[in-house]
Amino acid sequence: MANPSLLILPGDGIGPEVMSEVRKVIDWFAQNRGRAFDVSEDLVGGAAYDKHGTPLTDETMAAAQAADAVLLGAVGGPKYDDLDFSVKPERGLLRLRKEMDLFANLRPAQCFDALSDFSSLKPEIVAGLDIMIVRELTSGIYFGEPRGIVQEGNERVGINTQRYTESEIARVARAAFELARRRGNRVCSMEKANVMESGVLWRQVVTEVHQADYADVELSHMYADAGAMQLVRAPKQFDVIVTDNLFGDLLSDAAAMLTGSLGMLPSASLGAVMENGRPKALYEPVHGSAPDIAGQGKANPIACILSFAMALRYSFDAGEDAALLEKAVETVLADGVRTGDLMQGGDGTPVSTAQMGDAIVAALSRG
Ligand code: NAD
Ligand code: IPM
Ligand code: MN
Repeated sequence: MANPSLLILPGDGIGPEVMSEVRKVIDWFAQNRGRAFDVSEDLVGGAAYDKHGTPLTDETMAAAQAADAVLLGAVGGPKYDDLDFSVKPERGLLRLRKEMDLFANLRPAQCFDALSDFSSLKPEIVAGLDIMIVRELTSGIYFGEPRGIVQEGNERVGINTQRYTESEIARVARAAFELARRRGNRVCSMEKANVMESGVLWRQVVTEVHQADYADVELSHMYADAGAMQLVRAPKQFDVIVTDNLFGDLLSDAAAMLTGSLGMLPSASLGAVMENGRPKALYEPVHGSAPDIAGQGKANPIACILSFAMALRYSFDAGEDAALLEKAVETVLADGVRTGDLMQGGDGTPVSTAQMGDAIVAALSRG
């Protein structure tokens, strides 16, 4: 049987740097665990714009649709800030999410024991933290119409529209309940039903789906602003959080810092399950292209490497291999190996991106 296919889109800034380390991990699994992929690589974001004048060509879009899984680094950077909206690097990523219909974005926030001292919160508040944010990814204010900047009388008006259909809410709610059943069996849904009609509908539909099919899962609701507060006050109260596209973007960045660094957080963006039993899927770190440290070998590759672990688990039914990789990351952190983002001023010398990748591969080999 042919190997499963993996499309790699390194992107911009630190994207290619962290992706090089993932390639080492992919090679290790091929050589040592007989888990080979047909890997191809292509451009996305600013890199694609520089070459083709578009952040995602139709050919790359088609390759992503055809791949068994897509692995993306990061897109964007100051060089592209003044580009027209339609060709900005970020549009490439948004097009992938939309056209692949990747409606469920899983953003786990787990605090590794070795890093509990490093979080900006007290160690006892984050030690053992293991939550999963499920962010709706293909609708809401990111895609709603009307949108634009228009002239009204003598001033300009910026317009975006929050819009959710009940089927969009129901399918992401189902994804959250299904995940909860395999974890702590609790879902907290966050919206602003106190001020937004889309929030009222969100709460109603989540409740209906719960009553119809998931009454065994514990469901609670929270306004998203209160949820943000609770996330930093007592994050361990949560198991699965389900929320919309914009709130999920903000809450997952906040959750990332609970774990110590944005450089630690992976994500999986999943769509419908296809005939071959695999979901449409794109895996990427939560962080961006980090222009402030790009090109210096300082980036932490762990978020991207853990995104590959999520691919093993969710696309390739290789939970055991995913766990091996996660354990290797844990070992390396416990050994005190740290990129700069995981250190406070004055405590030792940070390792480079490549050294972190090498350390993780060495830990895999040690078993
Ligand atoms: P960012 O995530 O790129 O960086 C925020 C801060 O975190 C920076 O100080 C950066 O150095 C640090 N950081 C991020 N990842 C790190 C890592 N792996 N190792 C060490 N430090 C890390 O967010 P930003 O600065 O707001 O955005 C920069 C660009 O990235 C923008 O163009 C934005 O649109 C884009 N972006 C892309 C994605 C994506 O591709 N999924 C996500 C977020 C932002
Ligand atoms: C993320 C990013 C993206 C988002 C941007 C780059 C389009 O911030 O993946 O969290 O806003 O969704
Ligand atoms: Mn974001």
